[in-house]
Amino acid sequence: MVFKDNYTNIKIKIIERVILITLNRPSALNALSSGLIDDLNHALKVAEKNSNISVIVITGSSKAFAAGADIKEMIAKSFSDLIDNDFIKPWEKLSLCKKPTIAAVDGYALGGGCELAMMCDLLIANENTKFGQPEINLGVFPAAGGTQRLPRAVGKAKAMDMVLSGRMMGAEEAEKLGLVSRIISSDNFIENVIEIAKEISEKSLPSLIMAKDAINSSYETSLSQGIIYERRLFRSAFSLEDQKEGMSAFIEKRKAKFKNS
Ligand code: CAA
Repeated sequence: MVFKDNYTNIKIKIIERVILITLNRPSALNALSSGLIDDLNHALKVAEKNSNISVIVITGSSKAFAAGADIKEMIAKSFSDLIDNDFIKPWEKLSLCKKPTIAAVDGYALGGGCELAMMCDLLIANENTKFGQPEINLGVFPAAGGTQRLPRAVGKAKAMDMVLSGRMMGAEEAEKLGLVSRIISSDNFIENVIEIAKEISEKSLPSLIMAKDAINSSYETSLSQGIIYERRLFRSAFSLEDQKEGMSAFIEKRKAKFKNS
């Protein structure tokens, strides 16, 4: 399986072991149409299988990371349409990705756009970013994980505030609350995010995957079960050549050269 030469709704660029996926529907502020999600999922699937790629960065434009689900596509849908075809289900592929993912968020990250960003492992925001779950203004409410991931990230009080009022939250507030991993200033925003992604991509990929898996399991299990799972994964890391290389490099005072095996 290979990347397409041309996607309709995204652009891709490979920089060393990093893939940059840019959502590209400027006329609709990157609203998440089914075509855009199909393109994104295709690129994600290929990136997951490609052993030369370690880290996946998803970004939008300086105006909008994504302004949410495509309202024009959604308006005519009925209850039974949603029973027959859960159009949000395919969005979840991003949250199931094993490799590290980074949302590089600039401009508006609203509704499904905010939810897509929250599916990523690191959420790096430009200082101008505006997050919001404004679905309540459309007579509905968030349904791509917003009512679940947002309270886990920012706590119930702030999640209720955002979802029930539909207000937007700036990057600074979002970082203070734990929604955002880092804020990067406007100048050379994406270049700076790529540098962070490159730094991560130089680590041992199997260890990155296990570390991500362990952290994600903390959302699904009790503390004691989570710690047992963490310990099992840690033991597995000792079957890697990368464990020997990483520890030898430390002792020999040199930079580790991981083979991802
Ligand atoms: N779906 C479809 N089209 C959208 C869109 C969306 N979510 N958001 C913006 N657009 C379109 C606009 O209709 C407009 O197209 P036309 O030029 O053809 O009219 C174009 O993008 C530019 O948008 P605006 O003219 O509105 O730009 P603005 O700068 O004045 O405002 C904005 C920007 C505040 C982001 C505003 O566009 C907005 O509020 N968008 C909708 C945000 C929203 O409600 N998102 C939630 C969607 S529902 C959802 O996501 C459900 C879920 O959880 C699963």
